[in-house]
Amino acid sequence: MSTGTGGEYWKDKGLPSVFKHELLKRYLPQFGGMTGSHSHDKRVVYLDGYAGEGRYENGEPASAEIALRVASHFRARHGITVECFFTEAQQKSFDRLHEVVEHYRASGVLAHAHRGEVDGVLDSVIQRAVGEPLFLFLDPCGLVLPQDRLSDVLAQQRPLKKPATELLMNFSMMAVWRLGGHVRSPKGNERALQRFDDVCGGPWWREYFADAATVSARTGAAEDAIEAVAAEYARRLARRTGMFVQSVPVSHAPHKRAVYQLVFATRSPYGLWVFGDTVARARDEWWTTFDLREEDERDGQLSFFSARPDPQEVENEAVLEIAANLEKLLLRTRRPIKLVDHTLEVFGSFYGQVTEPVARKAVRLLHDQGKTPSNGVGVRRIREITVHPMGLAA
Ligand SMILES: C[S@@+](CC[C@H](N)C(=O)[O-])C[C@H]1O[C@@H](n2cnc3c(N)ncnc32)[C@H](O)[C@@H]1O
Repeated sequence: MSTGTGGEYWKDKGLPSVFKHELLKRYLPQFGGMTGSHSHDKRVVYLDGYAGEGRYENGEPASAEIALRVASHFRARHGITVECFFTEAQQKSFDRLHEVVEHYRASGVLAHAHRGEVDGVLDSVIQRAVGEPLFLFLDPCGLVLPQDRLSDVLAQQRPLKKPATELLMNFSMMAVWRLGGHVRSPKGNERALQRFDDVCGGPWWREYFADAATVSARTGAAEDAIEAVAAEYARRLARRTGMFVQSVPVSHAPHKRAVYQLVFATRSPYGLWVFGDTVARARDEWWTTFDLREEDERDGQLSFFSARPDPQEVENEAVLEIAANLEKLLLRTRRPIKLVDHTLEVFGSFYGQVTEPVARKAVRLLHDQGKTPSNGVGVRRIREITVHPMGLAA
């Protein structure tokens, strides 16, 4: 199983990384803002465990520099220290990473670059984060840390809501695809299979590929198996850690199989709300970049039609569904509903698909339909809107 990046990777950004970096760029400041101001010494700890080079050859920031910029901004504007740890196993990538990190250290950002395996520094980072919020970003090219190790960190060492702990992690669908092929093959690589058993916290995933005849006869069946393994992985992580866990598929193009899922874990209802909003915004950037690149490729050829679903239509559908979800919630609970306390039920199938202003529009629609006295007007943060059942004061 490959653990390094190929020759082209650092030239410029692939489309999956456009999404991943947009998500990071938008979510990290929110995490810093939500948790840093409550931290007793205004410090937040961040680990990028598979940091890579930090910056693309064309000068664009990669994950490490994105975090360093956030740290620099928080230091200058909010007096909050985001202490950054980066680990990178490959010497060449580490050398470039080190250069990027040194540049920010020189301007006062508290950052450390380590050459080596993430597992070797994880415990000392957790020590540094005792009593402080901690964000873990684990983005390998291949297999991520064993689930036993992750759940030891999240459930045993960082079991509390405060200080906050959050995880954003790359779960490789390509790896599941490749390893799925080994399960019933007589030439299957048992060591690779066992490594993936560790990643998944047991050999349970092999069952999904056990019927090799069905799986190889239909590509769709293999895709179903991969999706099912990813979904079960997330369910198990949620069960073992007691955290909210949400996965987002990331691909190279519309209607293409996801190359990986970004798995997000938090104990905070606010984190869950903000993450969904951020995913929708990052998705928007992914589409814009995809369309621009397609347009460039077709330069001088037939006119270009975007494959993107019409955002206005998506929003209209979402407003209807969210209003219906709210109505159901009110009928069931017969109590006032604060949006952020019911994020997944409120957004339903549109979680991560639409941004938070759509929720305000849905509240407004419900109000106009005479189903709630609350209209959401005047509440500064949308997630704080409380929707009352009829008959109770708004
Ligand atoms: C997908 S790249 C990282 C991309 C980077 N996070 C970004 O978004 O800009 C994965 C990196 O992890 C490194 N790597 C692989 N195994 C590792 C390990 N066990 N510990 C630390 N780094 C590792 C690889 O050399 C590679 O540079």
